[in-house]
Formats: sequence, structure tokens, C-alpha cells
Amino acid sequence: MKGLLVPVIAMTMLLTACGGGQKAGKSQVLKLSHNHADGYPVDRAYKKFAELVAQKSGGRYTVEIYPSAQLGDQRASLELAQSGVLHFAHINTAVLEGFDSIYGVLNLPYIFKDYAHYRAVMDSPKVRQIFEDTLPKGFVPVIYLEGGARSFYTKDKPINTPDDLRGLKIRVQDSPTSIEMVRLLGGTPVAMNFSEVYTALQQGVIDGAENNAPSLITTGHAEVAKNFSLNNHMRLSDILVVGGDFWKSISEEDRAMFRESANETIEFFAGVWDADEKLAFKEAEEKYNVKITHPNTELFRAKVFPMHEAMAKKDPRFKELIDYIKTLEK
Ligand code: GCU
Repeated sequence: MKGLLVPVIAMTMLLTACGGGQKAGKSQVLKLSHNHADGYPVDRAYKKFAELVAQKSGGRYTVEIYPSAQLGDQRASLELAQSGVLHFAHINTAVLEGFDSIYGVLNLPYIFKDYAHYRAVMDSPKVRQIFEDTLPKGFVPVIYLEGGARSFYTKDKPINTPDDLRGLKIRVQDSPTSIEMVRLLGGTPVAMNFSEVYTALQQGVIDGAENNAPSLITTGHAEVAKNFSLNNHMRLSDILVVGGDFWKSISEEDRAMFRESANETIEFFAGVWDADEKLAFKEAEEKYNVKITHPNTELFRAKVFPMHEAMAKKDPRFKELIDYIKTLEK
């Protein structure tokens, strides 16, 4: 039922409200879709982006935000952006891998040593070029938002070593890299959309999932998953993409205005994320009685590190990016 309802609602909303960029007064309305709750850090970033765009364009553009996957999950909304129905779509680098496999490199477990390394890579001209190169596929990433380090959370027992994952069904995003990671660690990966995880946890369809602390809280997963084991396996980004047709239809000055707004949003977000992540850890322990543990990350790293070499062997582009990422490690 839900699978049918969402596209119907989405299409009705788009046809009645969007019209592919209809003008409200003198302002062109631009639809932005994401899958987080209203008020989640990502949502606040997009509100900031909307504010900056309104300001810098002198009100010529109005960005309208549709949270909570109202316009479909990440894959569906990216497809809507590709086909020109939506202007901006939010997608995690994990799911983006299904549209361009180069993003799999950024999803490799333990590829980033720490936050500073992650920022250096994401801000590098090489990654910015990868963003630009996606235009022939019908979209261009314009904003990346850090998602902290992801770790396992489970219902019944903490994950202290990879062996503890044996026999457990762990939800991952629909990404070959995430699936392979859980498999190598000994668990059973189950790919599903973010919005389906709460019920799946509750009904025992899965035994756990992996994510960052703010996601554990805002989704209600902390009501069910009481063990959060900080093995910090991946640092994934949320990406805001702009639809290719819209991007090509506007002037170079307007593209520069959107880029400036996007870059200011990235900086704004750094402060938002840190504060929210700290708060989420506190809430997990104090409000939801989640037991936070700190397993030896080396045990996890050792099992999945061969993924770097295997990825490098798949394509010279991947190897070049992996080698480059390693040069930025301090
Ligand atoms: C994070 C991320 C989302 C993503 C989610 C997931 O919350 O911010 O963009 O959809 O993880 O695991 O699906």
C-alpha cells in the first residue's frame, strides 16, 4: 500500500504545486526533496540554503522544501530531478553509488582517517570535478553535508567484535559497498529504504542497522535498538543535487549564485552537525537508555580493509581516487 501511496501523493503534489518551476509572482519556485524529519540538521541546512538563494537572487528564486520523503525516497527523488520534475534532490553517497560507481570510493569503510581528512577530500578539486562530471547523467551535486561516522546499533546484544554480527540481519542502504562491508564483517546485509527501518526493527525483520547518532534519535530507532557500538566504519555524505535540465537552463551568473549559496551552506552546517551529534549521544543515553560502547575499531578495520584494494582493481579511476585520498591523510 505504502509503495503505491507515496508515488501517487508525490505526483499529485508535483503536478499541482511544481509545474516544473512555475513562477509565484516574479519568483521561480524550485522544489527540493529530502528524507529527513523537519528540524533534522540536514533540513536546517536546506532551510539555510533556501534563505541564501532568496537573498542572493533578490527573490527571483524560491526554494520550497519537502521533507520526510514526501516526494519519494532518495532514488525516486533523484530520478525526478534527472527528468526535470524536481529541481533539487537529497541523496546519500551510498545510494548515489547506484547512479555513478565512482561514489563507491567515498563510501569505503575507514577510507577517511578522521573529520579533517574527510573535509580535505570533500573540498578537494578532484572531488569537486567528480561532482561536475555527473552532468551528462542529468544531475550535479552542489552541496555535501557530513553525516558523522556511522556505527552499528542493535536490539539484543552489543557488537563488540565482528563475530558478534554473525547471524544478525543488519539493515544497510542500497549500496554495493555497504552490503559488501556487512558481509565481510560476518553479518547478513538487508538493503532497505530509510523510512522502512523503524517498523523492520520493531517487527524483528532486522536485528539492527548502522547510522549516525542524530539518525538513531530522530527516526525513533533508539526506542527499539538499545545497543550502539561505536566502531565508526564509514563517513558518508548527504548530497544535494540539482537537476541537469534546470542547471543548463539558467545563466552562468545564476549558477554562480547557487554555488555561492551552496558553499555557504556547507560551512553553516559544520557547526550545526557537531552540536546536534553531541546532543543526540546524550539523548540516546539519558532519554532512551541506549548503551553506548566503544569496540576496538582495529578488529573491524582489518576485516574490511581489503575492500580498498579490491575497489582499486576494478577501475583505474577508482585507483587514482583512492591513492589521491591517501595523499591527503595527515
Ligand atoms: C543518514 C543520512 C540519510 C540516509 C540515512 C540512511 O540518516 O543522512 O540521507 O538516508 O542515513 O541510512 O538511509
